[in-house]
Amino acid sequence: MLKSSEISTYRDMPKSQVDDVFEPIVVEAQSLISELLKINSPKPSDPIIRRLDLKGIRNVQNVSFPCEEPRDLTATLHEALSIFANRLSHDHPNCFAYIPAAPSPLAWVGDLLTSIFNVNTALWDNSSGPSVVEHTLLRWLADRVGLPPSAGGCFVSGGSIANLTAIVAARDHILPPNARCDGIIYLSDQTHISNSKALHIAGFSAEQMRIIPTDEKFRMNVQTLAQAIQADRQNGRYPFLIVASCGSTNTGSIDPLNKLADIAQEQNLWLHVDGAYGASIALSTSHRHLVDGLGRADSISWDAHKWLFQTYGSGIVLTKNATALQDSFKVDAEYIRTPQALDGTVNFYNISPELSRPARAMSLWFTLRVLGSCAIGEMIDQCFANALAAESELRNLPNWTVISPATASIVVFRYTPAGFNLDEKQLDQLNLAISRRLLVENIAAMMTTTLRGRIVFRLCSMNPEIRSEGMATLIQTLDSVASTELSESFKKCEQRI
Ligand SMILES: Cc1ncc(COP(=O)(O)O)c(C=O)c1O
Repeated sequence: MLKSSEISTYRDMPKSQVDDVFEPIVVEAQSLISELLKINSPKPSDPIIRRLDLKGIRNVQNVSFPCEEPRDLTATLHEALSIFANRLSHDHPNCFAYIPAAPSPLAWVGDLLTSIFNVNTALWDNSSGPSVVEHTLLRWLADRVGLPPSAGGCFVSGGSIANLTAIVAARDHILPPNARCDGIIYLSDQTHISNSKALHIAGFSAEQMRIIPTDEKFRMNVQTLAQAIQADRQNGRYPFLIVASCGSTNTGSIDPLNKLADIAQEQNLWLHVDGAYGASIALSTSHRHLVDGLGRADSISWDAHKWLFQTYGSGIVLTKNATALQDSFKVDAEYIRTPQALDGTVNFYNISPELSRPARAMSLWFTLRVLGSCAIGEMIDQCFANALAAESELRNLPNWTVISPATASIVVFRYTPAGFNLDEKQLDQLNLAISRRLLVENIAAMMTTTLRGRIVFRLCSMNPEIRSEGMATLIQTLDSVASTELSESFKKCEQRI
């Protein structure tokens, strides 16, 4: 075990002795990695979520400060484990809470490589290897969604920044600078909040955003959109951007991409597709048709930390014309020159909002090289199958109403027990209570959302390790928890009366 005194003196040592000090750290890190690999494969009985209580917050606060003197390495690693223990485990077999997927262990190795080499992919000169991979991988991804050869893009930290990057490119490309306060943007009532936040950052007010209603399948209503564009033009405004969803967060719905592309083309509007979740469907052979039309977008957001099974911090933005990003983000600085860069190479800082940036593409590249893209497609298919299995079991049970059938890997439903004469508000409270109970009893993380004003369950099936048969069992368990919650709530009501 490495002693504090050994660390404290390394600054004064000759190089060979420094190696002697760091070698035990490497040995320690190796055993830590194998320990972590075990920890990160939770079993059903492991906690799905652990939250700090007041005492726990104080304990973590106490270890949050730096030490003045060096500390024992192993003890500090164990402190880190106890801090990270307080989290939601996305890769828990009973976690169906949110869209970010259970990352592949290959992504962890990819991250480790990225961290250890710590390449700054701002400049091609300093990162030619990883920059070529990023450029080539983005071209490959653009091809998968059907974007033309002119397409380009960059990795960013996630869907929110991908949306922001695309929105800034759309603004600069379509909207004359003196028309910014008249620019109008069309979103749907299911568009992810990161888009309105990005629009706000890009200088647009809520008054400039038109929220177009969705149809019975939660897809943007094309007719209403066309009417809204016409009305805005008649009022002297400057429609310039449609933000479509390819895999909405609430229901997985996919807007009618071809029809929206037709409108965008006719009206000279920029079509941005938020595919943070759903663009990955392009890698599935069985479901690829669902994202037809994606390649007609002017820009696409795509999160690898969602359905490409990467860890957080792996977002992608693609534009139909690579030059669009350059027009918005190219800057020159006298201290950054790339004299050795070959013609046609990309300095990513010139097409992305960031300067220093990690080699984010390397982790996805590593997963895709080892597993192969067909395996990723099959993993996505498994998630589709699991959502369908959940829906079909819900339909077998009398007390459940499917609000939005399995779409991508999300199914939305509500507990609506017959014969109890509960009004909609009481049903809202009941559904919330069931969801809470599932989590408190460590049965499952199945969260609620609000759709058309009602509280509903939203099951996101993002873990390809889960088999469809398991989904039927899960829904039966949910049904019995719901019925216990219902009878206990009734007892409480009777006691109050
Ligand atoms: C459809 C959609 N777009 C954008 C985002 C934002 O992505 P991120 O959390 O990576 O910033 C999300 C996140 O859940 C999403 O579901």
